[in-house]
Amino acid sequence: TQPIIFDTDPGVDDAQAIALIMADPDIEVVGMTTTFGNVRVATATHNALLLAELGGQPQIPVAQGADYPLSKTPYPVPTFIHGDDGLGNQPLPTPSGQPDARNAAQFLIDKTLERPGEISLVAVGPLGNLAMALALDPDIVNRVKQVIIMGGSAGRGGNVTPVAEANIFNDPHAARKVLTAGWPLTMVGLDVTLETVITPERMARIAAAQNEDLGRVLSKSYDFYADFYRNNVGLDGCCPHDSCAVAFLKHPELFTTVEGHLDVITEGIGEGQTIFAPAGQPYVSDRWSQNPLVKVCMGVDGNAVVDWIEQTLA
Ligand code: BDR
Ligand code: CA
Repeated sequence: TQPIIFDTDPGVDDAQAIALIMADPDIEVVGMTTTFGNVRVATATHNALLLAELGGQPQIPVAQGADYPLSKTPYPVPTFIHGDDGLGNQPLPTPSGQPDARNAAQFLIDKTLERPGEISLVAVGPLGNLAMALALDPDIVNRVKQVIIMGGSAGRGGNVTPVAEANIFNDPHAARKVLTAGWPLTMVGLDVTLETVITPERMARIAAAQNEDLGRVLSKSYDFYADFYRNNVGLDGCCPHDSCAVAFLKHPELFTTVEGHLDVITEGIGEGQTIFAPAGQPYVSDRWSQNPLVKVCMGVDGNAVVDWIEQTLA
């Protein structure tokens, strides 16, 4: 089995990804860490605890993390995409469990000390928790098995500005630290998540296959998210961005990756833009090759990814 810590801001597509990691018997969820992003962090924590309970896995620890970016004024949370509650505005029960006593960054540090070299970090929100863990304990780079992030874009432009993807835009300074830290990292960004579309029919089948409570929450949240895609993106279906990061963990063969160097624009008109320099390019400046090598997903078999999502949640 693959032990993971899932860093998340649930969030409709986060919620689907959480259902996925709970459903896959080959994934061991060591814990979830929460961040602001789609919602404020208290709501993210509420939703993570609730989804774990609805999925029958209340033992999964949830450690709360960042409620603010490292160094910018936060934008209002995108209630028009994920709802005020992050799950499409529906009546939600209160989870009975409590968050872990530790901050998310400390949780990441402690768990990777307990199991050096074993844990994959799958991060699908703004990257403040990982950046904080790096600041508190730089040696964590040597203790993770790998880091998979959903965020950024190498060649597809942005989804919140012409150049910036939401998770990176929400905390560009944190993203820059995480993407250049020198740990084994793969970026699963808009280059592949926009090529992966899940239809309303599929989502209805997925919701129907869950237990009644989890199915209802997924179905209502998806309807809200699908309205946003229909009205604002002009798409009959949604991109399961965060589930793509889980798909990469389980089925990297469905993706094509390119090795190279990443950096992030942290200030100004381009803030939140990820810049990708494929390795070995004869750039005049050698500035790029000084950043550590990472992998960026540039291609995907989107149909196979959504097939896998549906099969795993069946
Ligand atoms: C990312 O931003 C969030 O809105 C989604 O949950 C996903 O993690 C997509 O840009
Ligand atoms: Ca997310």
